[in-house]
Amino acid sequence: MTIEIQRVGVVGCGLMGSGIAEVCARAGLQVLVREIDEAACESGRGRIVGSLDRGVASGKLSEEERDEAVDRLSFTVDLAEFADRQLVVEAIAEDEGLKTEVFATLDRVVEDRDAILASNTSSIPVMKLGIATDRPAQVLGVHFFNPVPVLKLVELVPSLMTSDETTARADRFATEVLNKRVIRSTDRAGFVVNALLIPYLLSAIRMLESGFATAEDIDTGMVEGCSHPMGPLRLTDLIGLDTTLAVADSLYQEFKEPLYAPPPLLSRMVEAGLLGRKSARGFYEYRPR
Ligand code: CAA
Repeated sequence: MTIEIQRVGVVGCGLMGSGIAEVCARAGLQVLVREIDEAACESGRGRIVGSLDRGVASGKLSEEERDEAVDRLSFTVDLAEFADRQLVVEAIAEDEGLKTEVFATLDRVVEDRDAILASNTSSIPVMKLGIATDRPAQVLGVHFFNPVPVLKLVELVPSLMTSDETTARADRFATEVLNKRVIRSTDRAGFVVNALLIPYLLSAIRMLESGFATAEDIDTGMVEGCSHPMGPLRLTDLIGLDTTLAVADSLYQEFKEPLYAPPPLLSRMVEAGLLGRKSARGFYEYRPR
């Protein structure tokens, strides 16, 4: 069994897709990124370069390494250009219809039948993505954490149809090529981390909504009292309120447990476009990017 993956495709260059593209380019791989139009490609490229610049500023990589990583990145608006990819990571919005469409297209265009077709989904059953293709044995969840260049964890999520060889190759790719730490989860909504994290974030939102404590005090409580790097409301802003809501909806749909039910405040904020850092306002305000 060999890894020998050189050509990677990343579908979507938002928060997660840009981080995944960055770590792959930094690992020496040729990375082709698909976004929906030229403007989205440009803003995705800007996000990656901005993150690489932060890496240089904090001494994590040299200017030369940054420039080499940028040279390994290219962008397209056409998934047909993924024909020669050996690994594709889909990282678009948590929308089941859109994701299954992407997998059906990848199945048609990616020529290597051994190529791994991975999804960074946080909550959509990997099985549904696998059966959108004629090669479910090559489809699995490879779930990264935000910020991707900083956080070590990757959850590997094989579906009932994923072959052991695909899982083993993806495991070796994540650990040996990307230098990540892998845990495995069964194909259940939320996998390991979000099944634990989302009820905690929703509890903090309910606490704020009921007037139990202020946003600042809730966050300070968890930072100073439990040594978390950031409090739950600031973390929800980092993840994106829309993503948090989508993951909560999937968890609630799967398990029907009240602890996964999104509180009305979260739904209203998403409807208002208050999505957190990415929209410059969520539970806190941020400088527009
Ligand atoms: N490359 C390499 N290193 C980088 C980098 C880059 N592009 N950008 C930043 N860094 C490094 C910095 O050099 C710094 O390193 P040191 O600690 O060694 O100095 C470190 O990353 C932290 O960066 P900052 O100093 O800029 O920021 P910070 O100290 O305020 O930490 C944070 C910010 C990393 C976001 C931290 O607050 C944190 O870890 N928060 C929790 C994040 C979390 O829980 N994420 C999971 C979300 S859940 C999810 O993603 C899954 C889902 O499906 C919803």
